[in-house]
Amino acid sequence: MSLNAVIFDLDGVICSTDRFHFLAWKELAGQLGLPFSEALNDRLRGVGRAESLELILAGCSRSFTPAQKAAMCEQKNLRYRQLLCQMSPADLSGEARGALLALRRGGLLLAVGSSSRNAPFILERIGLGGFFQVVADGSQIARSKPDPEVFLLAAKRLGQAPQRCLVVEDAAAGIQAAKAGGFWAAGLGAAASCPGVDFPLRSLAQLPALCAANR
Ligand code: G6P
Ligand code: MG
Repeated sequence: MSLNAVIFDLDGVICSTDRFHFLAWKELAGQLGLPFSEALNDRLRGVGRAESLELILAGCSRSFTPAQKAAMCEQKNLRYRQLLCQMSPADLSGEARGALLALRRGGLLLAVGSSSRNAPFILERIGLGGFFQVVADGSQIARSKPDPEVFLLAAKRLGQAPQRCLVVEDAAAGIQAAKAGGFWAAGLGAAASCPGVDFPLRSLAQLPALCAANR
């Protein structure tokens, strides 16, 4: 397999931002008189901001102009960023930290491939600013997952072919993106049972041994 690099999704893999997305979207949906549930929040994993808004508005009979939708995304994001300020290095689990350090010691190149435009801010908050060789995020791409663009950009900036990279994902959209780009895919949580997953994972702690066995 000759793995040279690991490209991590951020939200739900390196750290959990689910509760903050949930609160910020719920507030916006409430103002619009729309329902918002944990189940809908789960469907937004890995999906870009504007695409997420479309899924939330799908249950609404009113129509909105592009400018109104942009203002809604902006409002949600301001609230989300306010909530992200609660994050600290304590939000990086010992398990994630240990796996990242072991992979780096093992000589793997490490990158982030996230649909989030807030990825650099979140990495700073949890003490990983500057840790990864490459951070490809939602502000650098035109198409979010399930399109492979963000992972292809990360691989290109690492100087690695997709077949030399393992993508680690917690979302169906991310697994689809990885496979569409020709990457190896490891699935965490619900994504462990997604079609196309090469390595179902129970925990990030499994990664160093998995990568060492496939170098
Ligand atoms: C990640 C999250 C999604 C989120 C997307 C965009 O993929 O899993 O839930 O919608 O990023 O995030 P942003 O921070 O740019 O709104
Ligand atoms: Mg994710």
